[in-house]
Amino acid sequence: MKKSLIFLSAFAALFLAGAGTSAIAGSAQPAETKVAAEEPEPTLYEQLGGEAAVKAAVDGFYVKVLADDRVNGFFKGVDMDRQRAMQTAFLTFAFGGPNHYEGKDLRAAHAHLVVKGLNDTHFDVILEHLGATLKELGVKDELIQHAADVANSVRGDILGKEKK
Ligand code: HEM
Repeated sequence: MKKSLIFLSAFAALFLAGAGTSAIAGSAQPAETKVAAEEPEPTLYEQLGGEAAVKAAVDGFYVKVLADDRVNGFFKGVDMDRQRAMQTAFLTFAFGGPNHYEGKDLRAAHAHLVVKGLNDTHFDVILEHLGATLKELGVKDELIQHAADVANSVRGDILGKEKK
């Protein structure tokens, strides 16, 4: 919707500039103002509610993950305070917020888990918990889908799949 507005406004400005008469040029002003005033689309990070929301989501998410026998074996012996901090920083960045992520490359971070059998089924469980957590926090389905898309974009790295 917004993109088409920008496109239309830019088109109108171009058309009017081409027409070149001062009478028409006078009416070109609103079109140019519209391009300048167009707000950038808020990031997913902003739409979710920023730092506090992502932190709350990560905390709730790991409560579910650690209670789930389908995946909690992978987290045995993991420093969960560090893990929550890493996941918060990573998701903040992945959702379009500020980049403070200083953890490992995702492929390297999960390589030893792939050796232990980490596969798509486990990844889907993680997505299920991420979605359920966001839903509980009142996030709209559309944004949950967007978050799942972002997570799915790193599925190949997490699972050590060959790069296409
Ligand atoms: C959307 C998918 C995922 C994302 C964005 C993600 C992100 C991360 C990040 C940022 C780290 C920290 C890296 C570091 O230590 O520097 C990490 C570590 C870890 N992840 Fe994931 N992860 C995902 C999927 C999974 C899945 C599916 C599992 C297992 C079911 C998993 C299990 C773990 C474990 C156990 C560690 C800690 C490894 C260790 O310290 O030994 N992750 N992940």
